Amino acid sequence: MFQRYFHAQDTDLIIASHPKTGTTWLKSLLFVIVNRLKHPKNKSPLLKHHPHELVYRLENGVYGEASEYPRPQHLKELPSPRLFNTHLPYHSLPESILSSECRVLYISRNPLDTVVSFYYFMLDGMRKILHEEEFINTSLEDFYNGRNTNGPFFEHVIGYWKASLEHPDKLLFLKYEDLKKDPVSQVKKLAEFVGMPFSPQEESEGVIQNIIQLCRIKNLKELEVNKSGVFNKYFDKKSYFKKGEVGDRAHQLAPNMVERMNNLMQEKLEGTGLSF
Ligand code: A3P
Repeated sequence: MFQRYFHAQDTDLIIASHPKTGTTWLKSLLFVIVNRLKHPKNKSPLLKHHPHELVYRLENGVYGEASEYPRPQHLKELPSPRLFNTHLPYHSLPESILSSECRVLYISRNPLDTVVSFYYFMLDGMRKILHEEEFINTSLEDFYNGRNTNGPFFEHVIGYWKASLEHPDKLLFLKYEDLKKDPVSQVKKLAEFVGMPFSPQEESEGVIQNIIQLCRIKNLKELEVNKSGVFNKYFDKKSYFKKGEVGDRAHQLAPNMVERMNNLMQEKLEGTGLSF
């Protein structure tokens, strides 16, 4: 449905990602950056809405049954720029996203942190039917073999990476780890990419730091709106906010699993210029 019927507008901003790579964080940042002139700092809709209610998931969301999202026929009424997200791989994006002037922001993350994050997220929804130890092994094995709901992880990342090199004005490639390490320069980059750079006055008034502060995981997970309720019938709103750390894999996975995945990563990313 999404692939066939979605018509991108030139002003649309679309977050693309493999699940569990920082989509929720990027949604928060993008929403606040784009709407910063509309809402004073302490009145941000992010304080009253889960980030997934502010940036709409297209497949399974707008073009699915999820009641949290506007229906496809109402998309034209959304204020500009419209903010969406998708987990589809680059080669599966609707033609109008590629041919229009809309912009795509891709977030990626170290695959081991991603798989550990996915494991804990799914456990929340599936605890009743899966034995934990069996599940971590299945998750890793699936991940390793490229059996992911949204297509193989590495092909997903590499597809967007190559597109970002070919079309740097169309596609911004971000890494979760860079956002953690240097949020100021990443947030500036993001704002410039969407055509809303921070003015010298905003910079001197600390607008960038305020945005980073507002979107910090520690802040968001303590908000009432993110503590209870479910999305898509299964997933607790709070399960989108866990630890939000880099390198958590080291404490969760056996060394041989880490080595195996690192070898695969090296093999898959060789010659691409991309690393995690
Ligand atoms: P962990 O499970 O490692 O804690 P996604 O949004 O793509 O589903 O990714 C979820 C991951 O992003 C989870 O990682 C979650 O904790 C983390 N995350 C969510 N909001 C965040 C934020 N504001 N800052 C940093 N990380 C965040």
